[in-house]
Amino acid sequence: MNQLKELLVDELRDLLHAEGQLLTALPKMAEAAHHPKLKEAFLNHLQQTEGQVGRLKSAFGLLGEKAVPKPCKAMTGLVEEGAETIKEGTDRERIAADLALIAAAQRVEHYEISGYGTARSLARQIGEPDVAKLLTQTLGEEESADFLLTELSKPLMQEACSESNLAESKSKKTRKQTA
Ligand SMILES: [Fe+2]
Repeated sequence: MNQLKELLVDELRDLLHAEGQLLTALPKMAEAAHHPKLKEAFLNHLQQTEGQVGRLKSAFGLLGEKAVPKPCKAMTGLVEEGAETIKEGTDRERIAADLALIAAAQRVEHYEISGYGTARSLARQIGEPDVAKLLTQTLGEEESADFLLTELSKPLMQEACSESNLAESKSKKTRKQTA
């Protein structure tokens, strides 16, 4: 096999394993999320992930290769960190817990964006435009998911700021009254 094609198949096998892990991790992230929009974002991405697994399988078919996953240690680590974030979130304020979930999820998205970007370049390089097209579709979904997470974090950060400002002005008032 051409060495670039071999590399592409290897990347796709890594991504297949990564996506498979997300199919079990995303429902847990959704369950842990407080904000309904964040919950919804995780559940939507779960649905997209199912489609992405399907696209990867189609890509293997186009390349005439078996869709065998290769253990993706990086995603295993990211998913473990996500599980830790969920656990730590039980001791955190609602907003901080959600922001930590967003941070964990964005790490995942960035890993996937990098993997799909490389795989697409390889597919283009070896003259597999149909495979590249499938990867572009998934890449677009990962990028939108990342963008959406950033957008969801903004009002949460603002809310956290105004809550701490309020708490600060309250404690100043009490200090004045007791002085
Ligand atoms: Fe994905």
